[in-house]
Amino acid sequence: MAGDLTGGHEMKRGRGVLKPDIPQSFGRTFALDVLEGLSQRPKRIDPVYLYDEKGSKLFQQITTLNEYYLTQCEHEILTLHMEEISQSLARQAFNLIELGAGDGRKTVLLIEHLIRKNLDFEYITLDISPESINDLSFMLEEMFPSARLKVTGIIAEYFDGLKWLAERSSSRNLILFLGSNIGNFEYPKAQKFLRHLWDCLKPDDQLLVGFDLKKDFEILNNAYNDSGGITREFHLNLLDRINRELDGDFDREKFLYYSGYDVITGAVESYLVSKERQEVFIRKLNKIFPFEAWEPIHTESSYKYLESEIACLAAETGFQVEKDFFDSRRFFVDSLWRVKKPGSATAPCNVECR
Ligand code: AVI
Repeated sequence: MAGDLTGGHEMKRGRGVLKPDIPQSFGRTFALDVLEGLSQRPKRIDPVYLYDEKGSKLFQQITTLNEYYLTQCEHEILTLHMEEISQSLARQAFNLIELGAGDGRKTVLLIEHLIRKNLDFEYITLDISPESINDLSFMLEEMFPSARLKVTGIIAEYFDGLKWLAERSSSRNLILFLGSNIGNFEYPKAQKFLRHLWDCLKPDDQLLVGFDLKKDFEILNNAYNDSGGITREFHLNLLDRINRELDGDFDREKFLYYSGYDVITGAVESYLVSKERQEVFIRKLNKIFPFEAWEPIHTESSYKYLESEIACLAAETGFQVEKDFFDSRRFFVDSLWRVKKPGSATAPCNVECR
């Protein structure tokens, strides 16, 4: 990478892990977001809060379930199409930047292949969670000797980290945003996110982004209602988290987990539903939240896409779709996009969007 990432203000956390001293542009606080979300109708809690230490472990467990086909599909895509993906990448040195990498199982596949192909790249993982960054960086450093792979973990919000990187590196970038993470944004928020990403990138930088496709409702519903109840536990943990961190008195036995595909929103919508009329006191907010019987808290939307919606999303946000890579059942797609800006290689755009 051009430029010295380890100079200046940033703090080193073990080999290759940096916590840049950049002001947080949109820092959140759990307490304020819970106060705001539970004061709305319908009540809601931002899904980012599903991922405390316990929630992140439960999510990793979900990704190993047969019913949660998304992870297996993406694994299959990366295995089947690795050669073609690597042929579409820059020949000169590039930064492979992963946003929200999770446990890195898919990342390892990709990295091994790129090293075998002798491509000149540095792996950079960006996440707000120090635990995720430390664990992944440590694992990759153990697996790949430093002479073969330079690993940098950056603990920051995605866009803060990307802007910070852009000031320090002139290399081309390939951004990985896998696992249908884009699916947790509603469409206008996905547009905003991608436009923001575009803004941080250079002409001809690339993005490999994973979308879960619309399909038979039974398959979709089973993915979020697994027989072992891990997904239910993942959502109920949110109530435990409020009790733990905000001194709340939620009784998880008084809530049911409900999740179902909505053909109008195009998302699997997940809720915790109060089984009875009750009041919940959250001491650190000094507030009582009344619930009617069968009143829901919306905890997550997992949007599913049509192929045409993906093409529109790319065109609307300044990207050119280079190639879509599907699994054998066409359940999931990893779509490879190129940043179009003045100065990028031009290609005709034939996408018509409503
Ligand atoms: C992280 N995200 C893409 C997952 C999804 O499918 O929406 C989170 C998840 N929620 C329940 N199961 C998995």
